[in-house]
Amino acid sequence: MLQRVDAHLWIAGDPLRVFGIELGRRMTVIALPDGSLFVHSPWEMTPERKRRLLDLGQVRYIVAPGRFHDLYLEQALEAFPQAELHAIPSIFRRFSSRPGAFPLPDRAVSPWGDAIDQHAFRAGPFHSETVFFHRESRSLLPADLCFRLEGRGPMTRLAGHGFGVHQRFSPTRDIRLWTLGQRRLLRASVERVLEWPFERIVPAHGEMIRENGREVFEAAFGWVSGST
Ligand SMILES: [Fe+2]
Repeated sequence: MLQRVDAHLWIAGDPLRVFGIELGRRMTVIALPDGSLFVHSPWEMTPERKRRLLDLGQVRYIVAPGRFHDLYLEQALEAFPQAELHAIPSIFRRFSSRPGAFPLPDRAVSPWGDAIDQHAFRAGPFHSETVFFHRESRSLLPADLCFRLEGRGPMTRLAGHGFGVHQRFSPTRDIRLWTLGQRRLLRASVERVLEWPFERIVPAHGEMIRENGREVFEAAFGWVSGST
C-alpha cells in the first residue's frame, strides 16, 4: 500500500497499462520537518490509502509534476480539502479558481524549500515537468522524464525497445527529437539536476533506481553534452 523507502519517504505503486504497455505509476510521499506531508503524483485515493496518509501526518501539499498527472487530482483534493495544490502551469490553469492552488515555479521560494529543491526541466515543447530533489533521503523525483521498463509482456518489450527504455534507465527517445535546436536548454537542465547529490531515483513510472542515481542519470543524458 505505502512502502517506506527512507526515514521520511514512502512510495505507493499502482499497475498501469496503456495499450498493453506495463508502465506502472508511483505516488511518492515525503514527510517534511514539521511533520506535514508532500504528496507527489497522487494516483487513486482509495479509502485505505487515505487512511494510511492520515496516519502518517497532515497532507499539506499535493503536487502535480507533469502532464497527465492530474487524472486523480480531484479525488486527492476531495480527500484532503485543506491541502494546497501545486501543479505545472498547464494543469494549474484548470484549477486556478480554486483557493490554495499554485503554479509550480522553477526555483521556488517554496513552502517546502528547506527540505526539497525543484527545477522546471526543459526537454522540448511537448514536455512539461518539474523535477524534485529531497535532500535528506538524497532522492530525485522525476515524473516522465526518464525511466526504465522491466515488464516482460510483448507490448511492454516492444514499446521499451522503441522508446529506448527497455531494461535501461533513459529519457524516452522522442526527447532527442523534440529538443533538436534546443539542446542548450536541455543541457542547462541536466546540469542543474546534476548539482544535486542524489543517490536514489524515484520516477513516477517504471523501476526505482536505488543506488548511484546521479551516475545513472548522468549516463542516461550523456548524449546531451556536446550535442547542439
Ligand atoms: Fe506520467
